Amino acid sequence: MLKKARIAVLVSGGGTNLEHLLLAQERGELPHGEIVLVVSGNPSAYALTRAEKHGVPAVCIPKKDTPQEYFEKLLSQKLQDFGVDFLILAGFLSILSENFVKQWPEKILNIHPSLIPSFCGKGFYGLKVHEAALARGVKVTGATVHFVNEIPDGGTILLQKAVEILPGDTPEILQKRVMEQAEWVLLPQAAELLAQRLTQEPASR
Ligand code: GAR
Repeated sequence: MLKKARIAVLVSGGGTNLEHLLLAQERGELPHGEIVLVVSGNPSAYALTRAEKHGVPAVCIPKKDTPQEYFEKLLSQKLQDFGVDFLILAGFLSILSENFVKQWPEKILNIHPSLIPSFCGKGFYGLKVHEAALARGVKVTGATVHFVNEIPDGGTILLQKAVEILPGDTPEILQKRVMEQAEWVLLPQAAELLAQRLTQEPASR
């Protein structure tokens, strides 16, 4: 039996995506990975409480008033202490520097609440994404799990799922539907895909 890929989940807020990753793990849907650490840049993130309720170590590295370089130094140290193999940004709303991202090639997954390349990039996060989709009048939106490269919300797309926009939708209603129908389904699938990839034995010749 190969060792499992050790996963750190980075969060900033409510942590519903984290919750669904943990539930998937508890249901046995993450057989090649294990969530070993949750990191928040925000001390009052409810995601930290969720991690504790599931018995997963949770730490806060306060982002506010901390220089980026120092924040990333502390983060790198934690990831090393916990022997982390890959990272999942699950509603982690801070930008990581190019220098940090370079150290984790194809090992940082992010979930974004739209069908990239629509409604992504600078300023598009959380409810703002759904406000923009409704303002544009698109009939279909969704969610994307992608690798983080140098550009935020750039990088290779791993999985996408479409969600219908319905008459009368508000940003809040749409956000809830995108989470339920796409984000909470896709993120555990993507975590298992990458965990499987990283723990796979090289093909025998
Ligand atoms: C999620 O909708 C996630 O897709 C979004 O923030 C929310 C966090 O919710 N992320 C972005 O907008 C990234 N650009 P959660 O804390 O309940 O998982």
